[in-house]
Amino acid sequence: MIIKSAKFVMSNTDYRKCPPPEQPEYAFIGRSNVGKSSLINTLVNQKGLAKTSSTPGKTQLINHFMINDTWYLVDLPGYGYAKVSKVERAKFEKMIDGYLTNRSNLLCTFVLIDIRHEPQTNDMNFMRMLGEKGIPFCIVFTKADKEKKAAVQKNVDFYSKIMKQYWAELPKMFITSSETKEGKDEILAYISSLNENF
Ligand code: GTP
Ligand code: MG
Repeated sequence: MIIKSAKFVMSNTDYRKCPPPEQPEYAFIGRSNVGKSSLINTLVNQKGLAKTSSTPGKTQLINHFMINDTWYLVDLPGYGYAKVSKVERAKFEKMIDGYLTNRSNLLCTFVLIDIRHEPQTNDMNFMRMLGEKGIPFCIVFTKADKEKKAAVQKNVDFYSKIMKQYWAELPKMFITSSETKEGKDEILAYISSLNENF
C-alpha cells in the first residue's frame, strides 16, 4: 500500500469522543517505550506525526491519525510504566479498556513487544484479556535492529514456545524496526487486506 497522506485528527481520553466509527481502524499498544509512536511514524513515512521520546510515558491520550483519507491509525499510551502513580495508571487502564472494548471499527490491535525481552507477565495478561474479549490482535516485535538476525529469530521462537502454552493458535507475528523499516511493508499489506473486507 502506498501512503499518500497521514494527518493528525484528534486526541481523546474517552472513546465516546473519538471520530465516528465509520472507517477501519488499527491501534498500537504495548509497554511504555516499546516503540508504538515510532512505528506509526515509520508506517506513514513521517518523522514527527506521532510524538516519540526516549523517556517512557510520552503518549498519554488516544490519538487518531487519518491515513489516505480512508482509515485510521491510533496511537495509545503504554502500559506497565512503573513511575506512574497508582491513580494515574488506573485512569490509563480505564481509558484503554474503554477504547478497546467499545470501538466497533477496530479491525486489529497491534500488540508491540520489544524483541530483546523475554515474555513479561503484563504483556501476557494483556493478550489474554484481548483473547477473552474477542478483540483481534497481532504481535509486533520491535527494535529488531538492536539484535543480530539469529538472536531475533531465537527470541521469536522462544516467545512462540511460551505463547503455545496458553494459546491453541498463535497470533500473526511481525518483526519490525523503525530504524531499518523492517516489517513495514508486511504490516501495511496486512492492513490493506483487512481494509478490503470492511
Ligand atoms: P510511550 O508513548 O512512552 O508509551 O512510548 P512508545 O511506545 O510510543 O515509544 P516511542 O516510539 O516513543 O519510542 C521510545 C524510544 O525507543 C525512542 O527513543 C525511540 O527512538 C526508540 N525506538 C523506537 N523504535 C525503535 C526501533 O525500532 N529501533 C531502535 N533502535 N529504537 C527505537
Ligand atoms: Mg508513544
